Amino acid sequence: MKNINPTKTISWKNLQNHLQEMKKINLYHLFKQDKNRFTNFSINFENKILFDYSKNIINKNTIQYLINLAKETGYIDFINALFYGEKINVTENRSVLHTATRNNNNYLLKNKKIYDDINFILQKIKNISNNIILNKWKGYSNKKIKNIINIGIGGSELGPLMVTEALKSYKNKLNLFFLSNIDSEQLINIIKKIKPEESLFIIVSKTFTTQETITNALSIKKWFIKKIFTKINRNILSKHFIAVTNNINAAINFGIDKKNILPLLSEIGGRFSLWSSVGLSISLSIGFNNFQKLLNGANKMDNHFFYTPINHNIPIIMALISIWYSNFWNTETEAIIPYSNNMCFFPKYLQQLCMESNGKSIDRNGNKIKYQTSPIIWGDIGTNGQHSFFQMLHQGTKLIPCDFIASVNNSNDSFKEHHNKLIANYIAQTKTLAFGNANKYILQKNIYKYCFGNHPSNSIFLKKINPYNLGLLISYYENKIFMQGIILNIFSFDQWGVELGKKVANIILNDFNQNIKKVNKYDSSTNGLINFYKSFY
Ligand code: F6P
Repeated sequence: MKNINPTKTISWKNLQNHLQEMKKINLYHLFKQDKNRFTNFSINFENKILFDYSKNIINKNTIQYLINLAKETGYIDFINALFYGEKINVTENRSVLHTATRNNNNYLLKNKKIYDDINFILQKIKNISNNIILNKWKGYSNKKIKNIINIGIGGSELGPLMVTEALKSYKNKLNLFFLSNIDSEQLINIIKKIKPEESLFIIVSKTFTTQETITNALSIKKWFIKKIFTKINRNILSKHFIAVTNNINAAINFGIDKKNILPLLSEIGGRFSLWSSVGLSISLSIGFNNFQKLLNGANKMDNHFFYTPINHNIPIIMALISIWYSNFWNTETEAIIPYSNNMCFFPKYLQQLCMESNGKSIDRNGNKIKYQTSPIIWGDIGTNGQHSFFQMLHQGTKLIPCDFIASVNNSNDSFKEHHNKLIANYIAQTKTLAFGNANKYILQKNIYKYCFGNHPSNSIFLKKINPYNLGLLISYYENKIFMQGIILNIFSFDQWGVELGKKVANIILNDFNQNIKKVNKYDSSTNGLINFYKSFY
């Protein structure tokens, strides 16, 4: 595999020249020039997801130059290495296996034993889900389990949180709670609503050392023991505590019964882990069959990414278009705007997926990077965003590419008028961002009311937000982000930048616990903040 600095390629130079040409035309002209533009710049994926990328400031030459860039960076070797299980997570000396967790029938991995591990974990997820949902697994006092509490943060929360909210209409009767922050407000709010004897706590932590998760888990365990008024023993704990982790010994030391520990393979990155044992709360919430459909959808998009020629490969094309904006138009951010209330956590989920993967500044050769890597991912649901930040999208000074996401069918057939209005807004916003006011008269009459247009967007239109299609969509973004990292010559599967903060937090925590009056060993700001806090002790 080649570690090419993309700015040193011929294609990069061609794109810089091409940019000057594209700055002279706008979306209005691009659509005028080609009456089939929508057909030429959209992909209908099995009539399950329509990807309309026609409202981008591109033409066929742009796409060709971008494809040439991908080819010059040797992208195909990285895609093969991912799916064949080579160690592309170089700085952690690991392969990357999230695609294998849902491609457990493709047998692309060279090491076939991994499929045994994956299928073992899937079976455990299935057994636990069925036993809880069918009330075969009871609490220590023989009460039904009514509450599932996922204790985890980052990738140990965001995937299950986003998926179970997006698939709310598929949820069963189990109450699902997510405990992630170290701020005890979240813990207090949850324990107000649950009875310990009816609750199952899933401690999700790949390392089983994350401060927030272990602190929350210990507090919950203490609360549980205090509330049940019965002498605690492993048998009681085994009915209410499960661990999902790569650190089996730490989970056993915590008091988790060995049979209640679901392994999390070290080759599964946290932000890519919802398909693995981290997805237990998803399977409990929507049932194992729907969880399997989620994986099947992701598998389908993986196969598209792995086998489809580049010019019809939607994750690759969209990755290239993102690079076109961030590295040539110098855009700083990308907005994710789901026109679906249940997809409210999708922008938050993509923040970790994209910015923890590609928020890097050292390239694969160890050199400081002098070009843009990850965009800032942000966003909120529509139509609400229209009443908060859309003003800036329409008339601000920044160029902000947007992904608009919606579904043809909503989760129920009632309130059809509502859905028609939601979709009308979804379409209208991409139109007005692209073309602005068609009427030049407004420009003369009142320039403050004039929208200049030429703001790019992708319209991602699902047939329905169901498990299979959501799996397609998430896999699309995972593979798009992976492709961006390949071309940007970065390692997308480590996250060393978040380790330092964790270490310093523990050192400062010790300062709080010391009985020294004043701290003066840091910079004046850190000293000042610590001493201000301690002054109220
Ligand atoms: O944010 C850093 C990180 O390591 C994420 O990559 C991960 O998803 C999260 O913390 C939680 O880590 P763990 O699953 O080990 O508790």
